[in-house]
This record gives sequence, C-alpha cells and structure tokens, in this order.
Amino acid sequence: MSCVVVVGTQWGDEGKGKLVDLLAQHADVVVRFQGGNNAGHTLVVGHDKFILHLIPSGILHAEKQCLIGNGVVVDLEVLQKEILTLRDRGIAVGPGNLGLSEKAHLILPYHKHLDLAREAQKGQASIGTTGRGIGPCYEDKVARVGLRVSDLLYPEVFAEKVENNLKEKNFIFEKFLKVSPIDPREIIKTYSPLADFIRPYVTDVSIKIDQALAANKKVLFEGAQGTHLDIDHGTYPYVTSSNPVAGSVCPGAGIGPNKIQSILGIVKAYTTRVGGGPFPSELTDETGSALREKGGEYGATTGRPRRCGWLDAVVLRDSARLNGLTRLAITKLDVLTGQKKIKICTGYSWHDQTLSSVPAQMKIIQECRPVYEEWEGWTEPISEIRKRENLPPATQNYLNRIEELVKVPIGIISVGPDREETLFQDNPFS
Ligand code: GDP
Ligand code: IMO
Ligand code: MG
Repeated sequence: MSCVVVVGTQWGDEGKGKLVDLLAQHADVVVRFQGGNNAGHTLVVGHDKFILHLIPSGILHAEKQCLIGNGVVVDLEVLQKEILTLRDRGIAVGPGNLGLSEKAHLILPYHKHLDLAREAQKGQASIGTTGRGIGPCYEDKVARVGLRVSDLLYPEVFAEKVENNLKEKNFIFEKFLKVSPIDPREIIKTYSPLADFIRPYVTDVSIKIDQALAANKKVLFEGAQGTHLDIDHGTYPYVTSSNPVAGSVCPGAGIGPNKIQSILGIVKAYTTRVGGGPFPSELTDETGSALREKGGEYGATTGRPRRCGWLDAVVLRDSARLNGLTRLAITKLDVLTGQKKIKICTGYSWHDQTLSSVPAQMKIIQECRPVYEEWEGWTEPISEIRKRENLPPATQNYLNRIEELVKVPIGIISVGPDREETLFQDNPFS
C-alpha cells in the first residue's frame, strides 16, 4: 500500500495526531489536505507533548517530508509561529522538510474578524466555531474572491485583492455587524515580511506527491476534524466548512482516487464533541464529567471543555460508509477502565421507528433518543498491555462488539497518549 488516509470518524479529537505520528515511521511523506488551524493534534513522545495546528503530524520524524495541500486554509501568522516554536524545541523545520501548496487559500485578519463577529451576533444560536476564520475563508474560496499562497509572491496582486475584498467586508462589518472596519494597509504591511518568510516553502504539492509515488515512496494523508463535522455529511449547520471525509484527499492534495488503497478511521472508545450541535449519546451527568476528567477532554485548540458521551455505533456506521474505511484504530480505551457498565448506542429511537443512520434534518436528530446496549466494564489497568489477546475479557468483548456493529476490522488499539502505548496489530502500509 503506498497511500494511507487517516480520518476522524466522530466529531474530531479522536486521536488522529497520535496515530499519524506513529504511522509516519512507516511513511515517507505526510500531507494535510483540508481544514486549517481549527485542528489541534496532540503528539506525546515520552515527557514531551506537542500540539500541532497546521504542520502535519509527521514533523517529529526528521527525515520525513511534510506537505500542506491546497485544500487547507492557512493562517500564515499561525504557521510561522508553529515553525518557530518547533525549532525552539529542537525540531528541525525548514523548506527541506515542509512544503506549502501555492494553491492553498489564506486566512486573513478579516476572516477571523468576521467569524467572531458573526458568532457574537448569533448569541445562543452560535455554532461554537473555533473563531479561527475557517468558514469565512472557505466562503471566499468558493465565491472566487479568496487569496491564495501564490498571490503572496506578487505584492501588487496581493494588495489589490485585499483592498477590493475589504470594500465589501468593511461594509458588512460597519453596517451590519456593527464592529470596527479593517484597514487594508495594515494587512499589507504585516504580510510583506510573512511573504518573505514563507516563500522558500511554497511548492506544487500535487507534483511532489506524484513524484514520491513514482519513486515508490509511501504517502500518509492526515485528516483534520471528523466525519460528522463534514460540511456535506455532518450535522449541518453545526459542522466545519471543509470535507473531512477521505474522498476529500483527491481535490485537497491533488491526487486521483485510484491512488488510495487504505483508509484508517480513528475511533475514540467513547464520543466527544466541542461546540454546539446535536449529540444523541451525550452524558450530561457525572459519568460524562468523569470521562472528561479522566480523558483530559479539553480542546487542544481553544481549551473548551469537550462534551462527552457513550460510543455511538450509528455515527460510526455512517463513517464507515462515507469514508470507505478499511480499518479502525480505537483510541483512549484506557479511559474506560473502571466504568462498571459501558453503553453503546446502536440506533436512534424516533417516534415509532428505530433509525440506523444519522438523519439529515436537525429537528429529527434533536428528537432522537439513543437506543443502548449495556456491556460489563473492566477494572484492570490496560496501558501496559501490547497484545489484543492479553486485554481483559470484558475489554475484548467491547472491541469485538464494535467490529460487529461497524463491520470494519480493528487494526490498531491505543491505550495511552504515548507512542509506545499502542497495540499495533496490522500496518496499514503493508
Ligand atoms: P486529534 O485532534 O484527533 O489529533 O486529537 P486531540 O489531540 O485533539 O485529542 C486527543 C487527546 O487524547 C490528546 O490529548 C492525546 O494526547 C490523547 N490521546 C490519544 N490517544 C490516547 C489514548 O489512547 N489514551 C489516552 N488516555 N489519551 C490519548
Ligand atoms: P481536530 O482536527 C473538534 C468544531 C468547532 C465547531 C465546528 C465549526 O482537532 O479534530 P470551525 O472553527 O471549524 O468553523 O468550527 O467544528 N471543530 C472541531 N472540533 N476537533 C477539531 O479539529 C475541530 N475543528 C473544528 O468546535 O463546533
Ligand atoms: Mg484535536
């Protein structure tokens, strides 16, 4: 297998960063293909913890090539800070091991301003975005008024586009959202040194991947967010503005669908969600709080407490179909240790029906009640175990049941945040 895609199967924060860092050992190139710095991917190596927002999670492996594809929306101030912070911590990052697509769209200060002002105006009805300007940047991309990385290389093109865009944006800021306008000259001034900084990293990511594949190299694609935050297939409108599903690798990195053989769905052993939106298996009681505390469920990007609940097989079955998952990686199984009983949501009860996939209509999802089955928990610590057959019988029963419900085999089991705390049953590259 030369191309492996890693995707989140739930509402994000499944542990994609840990898995990508781990699998990067077997890859030559690691590529982000959608999303932006709304992502927060945590990597733990011994006593060191790194949270990456834009740079692919292969960066800790010095000899690997990391690429940011055209489907990613890039806040250059964040990217520069991330590069410099990693360097301060002794990680080599430079144009030799990091490339940025010339076609990637730029998140500019007015996108963040718009994101925050709109959320504030919506009040109770807000989406609970990360406030990073993700939605407004993708809107401009689709409206064909966005600025791309390549525009940075031509200062007069950059300046003209920023000035033009701000005519409309400032009208909205002042007249509709009643917030301060933005001076285009400030953006132009800030972005001139940023353009110089980033110029050596700018490349054609699609060609780079093509060359790597022609040389029999292995490419790992790192999804951000999760399938149920997908702009098309998620719980709209409580979604992000990109397509986190696996198929999005093709437009987002510039490769053909026939290049992909292996799609690994990351599944947290329970469910979490940050921000607003429906969450049928949510636990608002002390069990939910216990999962939050034990699992350290606080956002890696915004620090917000994550909502917690039981594993939802409806969500996972949809993910298996929408992504074409070939294997599952179960994460945070250790967090369930000590739960007397563990529940799995197997369907949604709605009026006199049982629904087996997430309905499109928000009103219906809100009326759905989870149908649970209950499993015996286990009390033994499992973080030291490295073979599935050595896990306590109740843990094995839980895993077997997930495979049965989702109809996708489990290839990797994670029992702690560290690279080492993993039961690596099969390598998706082999
Ligand atoms: P991502 O956005 O999918 O990369 O996930 P995040 O990094 O936002 O959140 C996952 C959190 O769980 C991070 O703090 C990880 O260090 C941690 N983590 C990952 N796998 C495991 C695991 O198996 N057990 C425990 N206890 N923590 C884990
Ligand atoms: P990773 O890659 C969890 C959520 C936000 C909000 C919604 C829209 O770390 O799994 P946006 O800023 O994208 O317009 O916000 O999507 N969200 C995430 N939730 N993990 C993420 O990324 C997320 N990225 C966005 O909380 O509900
Ligand atoms: Mg995260």
